[in-house]
Amino acid sequence: MAAVEAQVAPKRGEWTGQVGFILSAIGSAVGLGNIWRFPGVAYESGGGAFLIPYLIALLTAGIPILFLDYAIGHRFKGSPPLALRRVAGFLGESIGWFQVMICVFIAIYYTAVLAWSSSFFVYSFDLRWGADAPGFFTGDYLQVPTDGSLFSMAFVPSVLVPLALMWIITLAVLRAGVAKGVQRVNIVAIPLLVVGFLILVVRALFLPGASEGLNALFTPDLSALGDPSVWVAAYSQIFFSLSVGFGIMMTYSSYRKRRTNLTSPGLIIAFGNSSFEILAGIGVFSTLGFFAHQQGVAVSELEGLTGVTLAFMTFPAIISEMPGGEFFGLLFFGSLTLAGLTSLISILEVIFAGFIDKFGLTRAQAVYRLGIPLALVSVALFGTATGLFALETIDNWANNLGIVGAAIAMTITVMWVQRSGPELFTHLSELSTFKVKWGWWVLVSVLSPVVLTYMLLSAIEALIAEPYGGYSTGYLLIFGWGVIAAMIVGAGILTATKWRTDPMKFEVWPPYSPSYTALSQSHTNHSEAGATSAASTSEGEQK
Ligand code: ALA
Repeated sequence: MAAVEAQVAPKRGEWTGQVGFILSAIGSAVGLGNIWRFPGVAYESGGGAFLIPYLIALLTAGIPILFLDYAIGHRFKGSPPLALRRVAGFLGESIGWFQVMICVFIAIYYTAVLAWSSSFFVYSFDLRWGADAPGFFTGDYLQVPTDGSLFSMAFVPSVLVPLALMWIITLAVLRAGVAKGVQRVNIVAIPLLVVGFLILVVRALFLPGASEGLNALFTPDLSALGDPSVWVAAYSQIFFSLSVGFGIMMTYSSYRKRRTNLTSPGLIIAFGNSSFEILAGIGVFSTLGFFAHQQGVAVSELEGLTGVTLAFMTFPAIISEMPGGEFFGLLFFGSLTLAGLTSLISILEVIFAGFIDKFGLTRAQAVYRLGIPLALVSVALFGTATGLFALETIDNWANNLGIVGAAIAMTITVMWVQRSGPELFTHLSELSTFKVKWGWWVLVSVLSPVVLTYMLLSAIEALIAEPYGGYSTGYLLIFGWGVIAAMIVGAGILTATKWRTDPMKFEVWPPYSPSYTALSQSHTNHSEAGATSAASTSEGEQK
């Protein structure tokens, strides 16, 4: 009986409707990137003037590649390895697995940040960090070794417990499936997050000094526009924040119904994500304005305005000085935890979907065979005092090299090697109310690869020129370059393993129209073999 069951291909999950999909995609996009990354990046990259490259990056790469992810995932009905295999054979599949591997590494540290955030949510009740917030975070909480060593295998219970809890919650949601797990959580979490965060922003706006913070954030420094690194920062911010280029939106779009509007919800998601980002900028900088006001200094003199330092050192210090700081802390860390949780779910869903598609796992098997081992690695790395350093290093390499590299490989392979542009263009246009124009094709096939290649080369050059964070070469070889090497090796091994079911057996829908067939002849030949087979073996919600 078990042997027979093993032959039955798992069924593919499906959102129950447009709202469920939109909220889940917004849940994925709105995350740590919006709350702790955007405000600091904008401030350091020209303030108000940063909005110009940011908007241009959104319109020229963010939204076009979001549409590309949607078109591939929806037309070829699969996780990145499966969908890209159907588009571009082995090469496509290896890019898909590389995207899955990026998600593996991001998931491992993202969960740690959620664990910290949930701890600080609880600590907000009695402002547990006291008068020395940075000391509390690195000392009492993370127990970072004071002797300067970067490795320690001593488990830290205060981190271990919330970390295990975050893994249990996330795996339980993924186990429940797309509609009953992911969608349900997002339908509740996203409205709650928006309301909670709006209350936080309004409260921040009424703090003394808030206007100074806003002036610091929004006063445009137009000279920054001539600095290439500002443009690189804008494109990189958009990619991570919008969850494009590393498989998430492709996976989520593969769970959409056959006849479905792709582009209009995409615009809602993209502009919704950017609106949240700007709202976060307003909230964070109003709060920093208050802090500067309390200290009697200018906002420009403050330090620690982004990432881990902003969230777990600067903000707790500010919260301690604020009347009703407990409530503000609950709102801030509650929002960070919720936003991060819904993003983490989407990151892990890419990994689950890839393995389910290729190896025919059930969701329960995916939890045991993938989720639990990943959780153990995350616990070993971040449940110990080594965590803080490794986190920032992995994050830097995974984002600036991994995601950007994956996006370049995907656009060049799909648009130039396989020449699937016309097919995907028609797919988007035939199904959607907002019709993409040929400009989309140009942006995805020409502008994005050029800009992204420039970004990648500048990032590599900067990393070679100066050791990141002042760490030793050996350390960076393990947690920086080693991570990228592990992603490539992992992708290669997974591509070389055998498919449990024939990946090319699928139904291309809608069928090609005659005028369009002429445009994409090469691809048509390749896919029609699959089109004549029975409908996909992986439709429907999986148990
Ligand atoms: N898009 C997610 C974030 O911004 C990954 O954190």
